[in-house]
Amino acid sequence: MSEFWQKLAAHRAATAGSRIADLFAADPGRAQGFSARLGEMLFDYSKTSIDAEALGLLAGLAADRGVEARREAMFAGEKINDTEGRAVLHTALRNLDASVIVDGEDVMPDVRATLARCAAFAEDVRSGVFQGQGGKITDVVNIGIGGSDLGPAMAALALSPYADGPKLHFVSNVDGAQIAETLAELDPETTLVIVSSKTFTTIETMTNAETAKAWMGKSVTDPAAQFAAVSTSAEKTAAFGIDASRVFGFADWVGGRYSMWGPIGLSLMIGIGADDFRAFLKGGAEMDAHFRSAPLAENLPVLLSLVGIWHHQVCGYPSRAVLPYDQRLARLPAYLQQLEMESNGKSVCMDGSAPVTVTGPIVWGEPGTNGQHAFYQLIHQGTGVVPCEFMVAAKGHEPELAHHHQLLVGNCLAQAEALLLGRPMEVARGLMEKAGFEGDELERQAAHRVFPGNRPSTMLVYPQLTPGILGQIIALYEHRVFVEGVILGINSFDQWGVELGKELAKALGPVLAGETGTEDKDGSTAMLVDYIRSHG
Ligand code: F6P
Repeated sequence: MSEFWQKLAAHRAATAGSRIADLFAADPGRAQGFSARLGEMLFDYSKTSIDAEALGLLAGLAADRGVEARREAMFAGEKINDTEGRAVLHTALRNLDASVIVDGEDVMPDVRATLARCAAFAEDVRSGVFQGQGGKITDVVNIGIGGSDLGPAMAALALSPYADGPKLHFVSNVDGAQIAETLAELDPETTLVIVSSKTFTTIETMTNAETAKAWMGKSVTDPAAQFAAVSTSAEKTAAFGIDASRVFGFADWVGGRYSMWGPIGLSLMIGIGADDFRAFLKGGAEMDAHFRSAPLAENLPVLLSLVGIWHHQVCGYPSRAVLPYDQRLARLPAYLQQLEMESNGKSVCMDGSAPVTVTGPIVWGEPGTNGQHAFYQLIHQGTGVVPCEFMVAAKGHEPELAHHHQLLVGNCLAQAEALLLGRPMEVARGLMEKAGFEGDELERQAAHRVFPGNRPSTMLVYPQLTPGILGQIIALYEHRVFVEGVILGINSFDQWGVELGKELAKALGPVLAGETGTEDKDGSTAMLVDYIRSHG
């Protein structure tokens, strides 16, 4: 176990009783000292209990755990995903001028060629060169799940001010409700369906794809002609009947949850156009360059990960909330749930040993201000501490509604301030006195109005949510997950934990259909199967 873990634990024990507000009082330059910038993006982590000593220890831990060497190994195409024997090169999808060698070959000519094909197809769909049976494509349905859905779905909403192509729809759930409701509103003759699946075997996606094909086949003579596919498996897309000219491949060194930068982003590219998609890639590449070159103490992804390690592994806070004050980032918490929890929710280290600390935290969140009127009560006055990761743009996309934006920003900053400062008992008492309470009742009423404060938060601010800024934000979080994984000694790029449920679901098919019995099932599962069978 690295000595840094013990030193961090000792430092936390020694400082746990002090208040973040006192750190500001002791250091007038704290905000500047505990914040970092990339271009116009500002990351402020001064409202946490990290002091100079903690930061030094955390940076020491990162260096000791070999973050820099591992980072270079990733960018160089080494097979750092060693439980699957794969390189990890989603960064190659956005660093288009680079040359990256995998198994002795430069993979970049292929990356550039595929991007060019995607861009050409996207522009053909947008301009009407590619048509459906009924003429110009009006709607695009992306069928995919997990990383083949969350990225483009999140980004399509985030970048809706840039959308000037066909309307985008996303179907992920095997629950027929979603595809039924989506397709019910569409004209099959002017709809393009993109089947996005790295493996092209995922049961949810393939079931939805077949359903969409049958729907289209009711009125379109050649339904497969209105399908495109994004996958690593050319054979399976061909077997599904999709012409190779509309199949966009990518290599196994792009993990599903890291795949939106390549062809999995095709739907987004059709929605916003290839130029804006390239601006998104450029934003990601800018974050990559910063991640590779900035010293650890000024490095946004490293700092964000050190804050995460401090809160979860050192302070023991079990979850973190991602709170974008940006309605268009409504899907970002779900996207980050997969990115962070599928990557770092592991109980085994690279070498097969057990981790020396807890691993990935629970990630959750909702856009502000909505959350304020729902779960912030617990964040402010609950018995547990939830570190909050706020994010907000200085400027919105609705200049005519600037007063809305000012309220939005004001609320965001106010929440972070309230978490920091809280409201002590004396102040609560004063308020209750003014309200006319006295004696025991005053004490009782005041106690309910106390805010403990001293609750940590970070703030990411950026000028406006543009394609480039979104690219920076996503790459920032990707690298945060990477650094945390390296510090924890785990492989952030496999996801074996999703397999068992898939296997059991497959085996339950014949049981639910009544073809086989429940003898080998546990009592609870057997009872539930009986219930479903008799009520279904
Ligand atoms: O089951 C988990 C997972 O493999 C994710 O990692 C992935 O993003 C998702 O399923 C979808 O996989 P595919 O793109 O192969 O359909």
